Order: sequence, then structure tokens, then C-alpha cells
Amino acid sequence: MTAIADPRSPRVTVRRKGPNLEKWGWIYMRVSGVLLVVLIFGHLFVNLMVGEGIHGIDFAFVAGKYATPFWQWWDVLMLWLALIHGANGMRTIVNDYVTHDRTRRVLVWALWLAAAFLIVLGTLVVFTFDPCLGFDASTASDTMISICS
Ligand code: HEM
Repeated sequence: MTAIADPRSPRVTVRRKGPNLEKWGWIYMRVSGVLLVVLIFGHLFVNLMVGEGIHGIDFAFVAGKYATPFWQWWDVLMLWLALIHGANGMRTIVNDYVTHDRTRRVLVWALWLAAAFLIVLGTLVVFTFDPCLGFDASTASDTMISICS
């Protein structure tokens, strides 16, 4: 029989005062996981199966979705929850495997910076998206003409 080695001791043994961020991070992973199941499968179902399904996806389809606050908020919620979930999950992995302290701290900072940058960029795209920029009625599809004129 093979004995499994004891897990390594936690990095911080004496906890500082204040909120237990590690506990809240653990809870966040579970809560965001449940919400992401609904948001991701809802997103896939609506985009790939309803109506014309996958064959209906084009620029006009996206323009139509981003003209509705409901889908703007659906996608922004998915973006925020998934990026924070992914970054926090990667933070756990980095903390578990990177033993050199400075390298570990640089990597964790890089993770949060990348997540923050993508969250800001993605949120701006969803809320400022204007499908009619550069609109040309001579080449546009019927749907785009009805949206933009
Ligand atoms: C479909 C919905 C999802 C569910 C239900 C879910 C659930 C979970 C749960 C419960 C954990 C914690 C596991 C643990 O602590 O042992 C976790 C970890 C993780 N998740 Fe998700 N997740 C989902 C989507 C995502 C997405 C979209 C990403 C990427 C953006 C992601 C990236 C990660 C990473 C990197 C970890 C850390 C893995 C580890 O600790 O070994 N997950 N997930």
C-alpha cells in the first residue's frame, strides 16, 4: 500500500486580525461556481440551440443581444464572476506550488492585474458597444439596416 504524504503546512501559520479572506475566497469559489453553471449553460443554450441556433450567430446577432440591458448584464456578470473565479483559482495553485516567495508574490499580482484589466476592458466593450459605427447601408444585412436606420 502506498502512503500519501502529509499536505504541506499552511504558508501563514499565525493569522493576522481582520476578515478571514482565505475563508471568503473559499466560499466565493462555491457560490460563483453555482452561478456560473446557470450563466454559462444559459448562454450556450440561447446562443447555440434557440431559434436558428449556431447558424444564426453573426455580427447582427451580437448587436441585437447587446442592445438589451438583460443580455448586457448577463454577459458582464459572467465576465466578472468567471475572471475573479479563474484568477482566485490560479492564485490557489500558485500558492500551492511556487515556493520562492518573491516569485509567488509577483505571479499573484500579475494574476489580479490581468483579471482587473480584462474586467475593465470587457465591461467597457459590453456597455459602450455601438454596432452602427462605420455603418454602410449599401453592404449591410437587412437586420443591421433595421437596427441602424
Ligand atoms: C461551470 C461553472 C464552474 C464551476 C461549477 C466551478 C467550480 C469550481 C470549484 C468548486 C472550485 C474549487 C475547487 C477546490 O477548491 O478544490 C473551482 C476551482 C477552480 N476553477 Fe472553477 N468552476 C466553474 C467555472 C470555471 C471557469 C469558467 C474558470 C476559468 C475562468 C474556472 C477556473 C478555476 C480554477 C483555475 C480553479 C482552481 C483549481 C484548483 O484549485 O486546483 N472555473 N471551480
